[in-house]
Amino acid sequence: MSEKNFYLTTAIDYVNGAPHIGHAYEKIMTDIIAKHYSQRQDNVYFLSGTDEHGIKIQKTAAANGLTPQELCDKNAKSFTDTWELLGIDYNKFIRTSSSEHKKIVQKIFKKLVEKGDIYKHSYTGLYCSGCECFLTSKDLDENGCCLIHGKKPDEVKEENYFFKLTKYKDAIAKHIKENSDFILPQFRANEVLNQLENIEDISVSRAKSSVQWGIDVLDDPEQIIYVWIDALSNYITAIGYDTENPACDFYKNWEADVQVIGKDILKFHAIYWPAILMALDLPLPKHLLAHGWITIDQSKMSKSTGNVIAPKEVLKDYNLETPDAFRYFLSTSAPYGKDGNYSDVEFKEKVNADLANNIGNLLNRTLNMLVKYFDGEIKSEFKAYGDDEISKKAKNIENDAHFMIDALKDKFDMFQITEAAAEIVKFADIVNKFVNDTAPWTLAKEEKTDECAKVLYTVLEAMHYIAVAIYPYCPNIEKDINEQLSLNDSSYKFSDLKWGDLPEGVITEKSKIKPVFLRLDSELATGKKKG
Ligand code: MSP
Repeated sequence: MSEKNFYLTTAIDYVNGAPHIGHAYEKIMTDIIAKHYSQRQDNVYFLSGTDEHGIKIQKTAAANGLTPQELCDKNAKSFTDTWELLGIDYNKFIRTSSSEHKKIVQKIFKKLVEKGDIYKHSYTGLYCSGCECFLTSKDLDENGCCLIHGKKPDEVKEENYFFKLTKYKDAIAKHIKENSDFILPQFRANEVLNQLENIEDISVSRAKSSVQWGIDVLDDPEQIIYVWIDALSNYITAIGYDTENPACDFYKNWEADVQVIGKDILKFHAIYWPAILMALDLPLPKHLLAHGWITIDQSKMSKSTGNVIAPKEVLKDYNLETPDAFRYFLSTSAPYGKDGNYSDVEFKEKVNADLANNIGNLLNRTLNMLVKYFDGEIKSEFKAYGDDEISKKAKNIENDAHFMIDALKDKFDMFQITEAAAEIVKFADIVNKFVNDTAPWTLAKEEKTDECAKVLYTVLEAMHYIAVAIYPYCPNIEKDINEQLSLNDSSYKFSDLKWGDLPEGVITEKSKIKPVFLRLDSELATGKKKG
């Protein structure tokens, strides 16, 4: 029985290029949150998609001899193909060039006009096609170039529609101040409050004479709805706002639980989007999770530097059959909300240390001992605690396992993905220490069979907890661990997880034991990757 609905979204990516590690970072994190909340038995609805309109697409398509729609179709597919490869299990993928989206955006625009929140105004401004927005002096460097894109914006003089953002300024500030967990991490809230101080009404349309690839304003076909109002609306058009048959049954009381976005687009989500929702009398999302940026070898990823990495290349270079190592590394590469870095060396070191050595070896050597000393069999008496020292230590491991699951939930309450993973590694460290301290190989040699059995059994129970805990990050490793423990149901909910669940009888034999994760510098895993 599901407890509650949990609606989460990612930013929708521009399709003027192929997906890179930065896009992947966000989608993987959101997928991890979705999987974690499914483990809590929430009824999760996960939305992702692509942002397809705007001058950049129009220009790139023209330069490539394609229609904008053809370019979008081609590039959107490279995004969905990549997400499939990375095991991103969204419920819906919205494309803003779809007719379902366009129709609803037109209705939203009309509603805002009728409400008196949109008005026409003649305007001269500096437009950055990288940001797809008008810039103010604060967005420019000393040479008059965009701070993010380093390019001079175009001077544009147009008659556009404007949205009365200023009308909602106080209400937004109040909301941010009264809901300290609206913007996460919390350290970003002040940045938004400062931006809010200086906001003006915003342009929400462009003249068709300058941009053609977009959604027509219903009653004024000479105007195209500006990309941000089009893009932000995806979060409600995708689930059927203002339609007879919403895509998911919890639309009626629409409220996103968490919207995952990069720090660069926090302003749009923490100011523009709440204002639009308020104007439509809709509830605001409960949380906005603003993540940092991923650099490559400590440099900003950019086409001109030539350091843009496609996720599928990493999987190919390392001959990785599953995305688990990449998912694990990327999602834990940055502290909460801060920037992270990808480098081949860090990738190899981290996954080797955590997945191969810490977790993988623990399972491997324990199963091997179970086969060697007990013919791979678990007996009911292994499960009982006595008054001896080993039993006391084993009981502590059981307590630590429950503690780890509680700590995970606490971290995920605030979407602290890196910090939650650290709890799993910490627990695996404790279990490794337990094995080293109790030395089951010595106990076997000394014929202390009961104690030896208790140690091995405790470790294998702990492995089951580790498998379930790591599932959101590494779903294939979870499956592999559980299979080797003769636990075949791989979709564990936290409520199903019980100490003592391991089956009795022969759970494994020598030929069935295999590493759940191969070290990346081992022959099998390195593939053609050098060094
Ligand atoms: N289309 C807009 C978002 C509209 S949401 C209604 C956009 N697209 S984007 O393709 O430029 O970026 C999509 C997401 O990827 C954003 O959240 C952005 O922060 C994130 N990233 C893009 N490059 C990134 C890194 N190098 N590292 C981490 N995330 C980055 O903005």
